[in-house]
Amino acid sequence: MVLNVMFAKLAIVALAAAAVSGQITSNVTIAEVEQAFMAARIVPDVIPTFAPPGLLDVVFFDDVTDTNIMVTPPGLTLTREQTAMRPTVFLTSNDTALAAPQTFVLAMIDPDAPTPENPTAAQFRLLLAPNMTLSGSLAEGAMLVNNTPAITDFLRPNPPAGSDPHRFILLLFAQPTNFSQVVQGIVNASTPRNGFNISAFAMQTALGSPVGGNFFLTGPDDTTTVRFDV
Ligand SMILES: *[C@@H]1O[C@H](CO)[C@@H](O)[C@H](O)[C@H]1NC(C)=O
Ligand SMILES: *[C@@H]1O[C@H](CO)[C@@H](O)[C@H](O)[C@H]1NC(C)=O
Ligand SMILES: *[C@@H]1O[C@H](CO)[C@@H](O)[C@H](O)[C@H]1NC(C)=O
Ligand SMILES: *[C@@H]1O[C@H](CO)[C@@H](O)[C@H](O)[C@H]1NC(C)=O
Ligand SMILES: *[C@@H]1O[C@H](CO)[C@@H](O)[C@H](O)[C@H]1NC(C)=O
Ligand SMILES: *[C@@H]1O[C@H](CO)[C@@H](O)[C@H](O)[C@H]1NC(C)=O
Repeated sequence: MVLNVMFAKLAIVALAAAAVSGQITSNVTIAEVEQAFMAARIVPDVIPTFAPPGLLDVVFFDDVTDTNIMVTPPGLTLTREQTAMRPTVFLTSNDTALAAPQTFVLAMIDPDAPTPENPTAAQFRLLLAPNMTLSGSLAEGAMLVNNTPAITDFLRPNPPAGSDPHRFILLLFAQPTNFSQVVQGIVNASTPRNGFNISAFAMQTALGSPVGGNFFLTGPDDTTTVRFDV
């Protein structure tokens, strides 16, 4: 199935209910994503600069309403329900250096844990997935395919009751050939999720700058039971 989604201005884009695959690209420009990262202060709070060669499209599947939700434009507000399952991501780029056999590392982090005002647990790592490869046309939006287990499994956004919405940031990096050897001593199954620093991690593992990024906002909901002030 090939889905060529070309509408970015709708608040929530409902795609076909079936599992997403094939090509997906929004019509947001890289410049617009950079602007959104600046406006949300992801630059410089989380990464010092952001000038990616590609667009990272993020699609969640909400199994309660049976819909796919595309994170476009960047910074969209989503509910906990909508973000409960690990999203599928797509890279669109004119940079042919990113084509196969390049592999990728996907990270999802929360710099606002437990609250944006007092982020003492930040950065909280919600996903660290290595060895991802592209399926489809890079120029038109190729799906990132998972080939090996994640280093840090996906954990759904879960801001505590009373918290303002958190920024949840997805960054995709081109994976250096020695990454698997190097990463083991830095982040592994026993490394706490909190106190992470994606910029320091990228330096330690020679990931360089992100090749694409996106983010969304999610706050607590009626079912949130954990309070940060008790
Ligand atoms: C994106 O696509 C939508 C729907 O086709 C259109 O209304 C909007 O103007 C486009 N935005 C840009 C930046 O091209
Ligand atoms: C790729 O190049 C085309 C033509 O210059 C441009 O319109 C498009 O925005 C570029 N796409 C990306 C993701 O840089
Ligand atoms: C891993 O490769 C990068 C270049 O991709 C290099 O800068 C780094 O020194 C290498 N690290 C180790 C431990 O070999
Ligand atoms: C990446 O995949 C290779 C096998 O293709 C595996 O040996 C390696 O451990 C994987 N890296 C990580 C970080 O899981
Ligand atoms: C696992 O990661 C921790 C850092 O969180 C590190 O201290 C430890 O040496 C690593 N374990 C292995 C087996 O490399
Ligand atoms: C993360 O690490 C970088 C590089 O060491 C450092 O400049 C930055 O201040 C750290 N960020 C946070 C939020 O601690």
